[in-house]
Amino acid sequence: MKRIAILISGRGSNMAALLNGVSDGRIDATIAGVISNRPDAGGLGLAASRNVPTVVVDHRHFIDRTAFEHALAAAIDGLKPDLVVMAGFMRIVSAAFVERYAGRVINIHPSLLPSYPGLHTHRRALADGVRIHGCTVHFVTATVDHGPIIAQGAVAVHDDDTEARLAERVLAVEHRILVSAVSWFCADRLVSASGGIRVSRAVVDVPALTVPLAD
Ligand code: GRF
Repeated sequence: MKRIAILISGRGSNMAALLNGVSDGRIDATIAGVISNRPDAGGLGLAASRNVPTVVVDHRHFIDRTAFEHALAAAIDGLKPDLVVMAGFMRIVSAAFVERYAGRVINIHPSLLPSYPGLHTHRRALADGVRIHGCTVHFVTATVDHGPIIAQGAVAVHDDDTEARLAERVLAVEHRILVSAVSWFCADRLVSASGGIRVSRAVVDVPALTVPLAD
């Protein structure tokens, strides 16, 4: 059975979705541990309450990125993971770090990549007046928010949306696509193909989402 290490920086709702996915059998894996770069991350308490080992590697205690990543890699390697999931992990990692775990690190990002890499994605989507927004699970490469896409989910943008309301609807979809993507990885169903990642034995029967609906 595959082992998963989860990296977090905050409240940990995506982490919780993964813990739930493992406990209810949608993900065939063991959560080996949760690592946070912030000692005050809310997700740490939640993980501990579910008897998942937690580790803090506080980036502020290291002189530079190289030293931080050295400690982070030691913490990850201590968990012997097959897959590392960045679930709201708010640190940019170096090319050397990515190389060390090539093909074994995935990230959840709150936009439909390649639109809106980086921060404040919901605010930027609202400012641009887009009608469809969403989230992406992708393999991590040396370019931030840019690796091969595994799964995406979309939501309609409402005329009266605020950043908080839009974020809440996107987050619910993040939880769904992250559990799906991790379950596919753990079942060895992700296949590299020209133009990106494909899921073997996937049944895709979803009509295109267009907003507003044509009448
Ligand atoms: C999520 O929207 C994630 O995509 C973004 O930060 C948020 C973290 O939420 N990078 P949580 O910690 O998983 O609740």
